[in-house]
Amino acid sequence: MPPNSANRDTSRAWAYHEATKHSEWSIQSSRHYLDWANQPLPLKIYTTLTPIPLPRDADQTGISALSAVSATDIGVEGERIPTLADLTRILYFSAGITKKRTYPGGEIYFRAASCTGALYEFELYVICTDLPGLRAGVYHFGPGDFALRLLRDGDYRGVLAAASAREESIVHAPATIVCTGTYWRNSWKYRARTYRHFGWDNGTILANMLAMNAALQIPAKPVLGFVDSEVNQLLDLDTEREVAFSMVSMGRMNNEPPERPPEVSKLSFPTVPLSQNEVDYPELREIHAASSLVSAEEVYQWRMQPTALQGPTPHPPALSGSDSTIAQVILRRGSTRKFKRTSITQEQLFAILKASTQGIWPGLPLLNDLYLIINSVDDISPGAYFYNHETGQLECLKEGAFRHEARHLGLQQDLPGDAAADIFFLANLDEILEPFGNRGYRAVQLEAGILGGKMYLAAYALHLGATGLTFFDDDVTSFFSPHAKEKSAIFLLALGHAEKIR
Ligand SMILES: Cc1cc2nc3c(=O)[nH]c(=O)nc-3n(C[C@H](O)[C@H](O)[C@H](O)COP(=O)(O)O)c2cc1C
Repeated sequence: MPPNSANRDTSRAWAYHEATKHSEWSIQSSRHYLDWANQPLPLKIYTTLTPIPLPRDADQTGISALSAVSATDIGVEGERIPTLADLTRILYFSAGITKKRTYPGGEIYFRAASCTGALYEFELYVICTDLPGLRAGVYHFGPGDFALRLLRDGDYRGVLAAASAREESIVHAPATIVCTGTYWRNSWKYRARTYRHFGWDNGTILANMLAMNAALQIPAKPVLGFVDSEVNQLLDLDTEREVAFSMVSMGRMNNEPPERPPEVSKLSFPTVPLSQNEVDYPELREIHAASSLVSAEEVYQWRMQPTALQGPTPHPPALSGSDSTIAQVILRRGSTRKFKRTSITQEQLFAILKASTQGIWPGLPLLNDLYLIINSVDDISPGAYFYNHETGQLECLKEGAFRHEARHLGLQQDLPGDAAADIFFLANLDEILEPFGNRGYRAVQLEAGILGGKMYLAAYALHLGATGLTFFDDDVTSFFSPHAKEKSAIFLLALGHAEKIR
């Protein structure tokens, strides 16, 4: 990595992380209130582009949900070119509108993947060559009317190939989906903490996307190393507001894309304003700039970083109880609003842990460590545990009844206190930032979202409930110390039997 790169100044990721911690004090002293009259739209709506409707009759796939969630290498030989029908299923089951709920104050259109505050700040764009049913182009996916809109006509994959420093899967992908986050759509509620939410909310989308690709036998890989400005320019983003966060290569073809065009023109297509006015949180733009990669050379060096982190050992999940397809599971998934205080089985817990920790970064280590509070799991004493990726075993840190502590750590909400088990994700940020710079901070948050999203799917495959949760950062570290004393809290997911079965 170039020594003078912003990405190398890891004090910036630390500063962001420290400044956005929740504590009892930060919550009590906050004067923030939700300005409902100024709530941003949860959609990007282009006003002048013609919609290309996606087929609504895409059939479901037959593969078992747990197999799709835990797939590592789908073992496809030769070329695999996604069709429009494949793409439609992937977009719908990753970011489509799956249900509508009416409340006294209005309606919420819920999506396939969980998202903090149901604010849905992520957009998906497709960059593809000619696919069966869709011509080469750069497209925006609109979940509102379930349509694509053509932003650029022609094969622009060469821009992604160059921006990713010729990352193998991107170079040979017939299609790549780029995910972008729009700050204000989430910061309206979560303010400066939104950059953490970017990782989580993009990650749950990727968990669904990877599982759907596996079910369709399409090789897919999340790619986080790219020259930010080149990707943002291709999508013509107003980067003060919206930025590319991750991409996923899909399919495989032998041919390489055409060279990138010498110039990628400005488009400036008008879109509907998100709300009457927007509040700027400069911390978000700052951490994004600090974690940006500026040249293909920097991307290449970033990707090649040796790391001391340990890779997870693959443990095939126990598949019993998984009788649904991944599409059925995604349609019935929803965050549990209340848990029954009943136990889950040990087999269920291990199936969820093993299925979710597979297939995120093939061949590379996980950045997050998993710590658990077990409240009620058959044949496991209540207590605090560390999940050892390598052995696939739980190591007891302390025995005891910790429902009260779990409730406190999960921002004093009843959900983690009532759940059968709470899975806390913690990470040693120094060990991650040292090799990966500030971009490692994006990666650890995104990975948490993917892991959490996979856990949601695995839990629902087993007819259990789950919900993501926020937490008091330093109290989580203290609770799991001394084992976790060098680590920072990144994510929390509660598991158990839902009071209401969906
Ligand atoms: C990372 C993450 C954190 C969340 N935190 C909370 C929380 O603290 N309390 C809560 O009640 N729900 C929480 N949720 C659940 C969201 O509110 C829920 O995903 C959203 O309303 C969309 O609904 P759905 O998941 O049922 O589709 C969280 C979800 C995620 C992904």
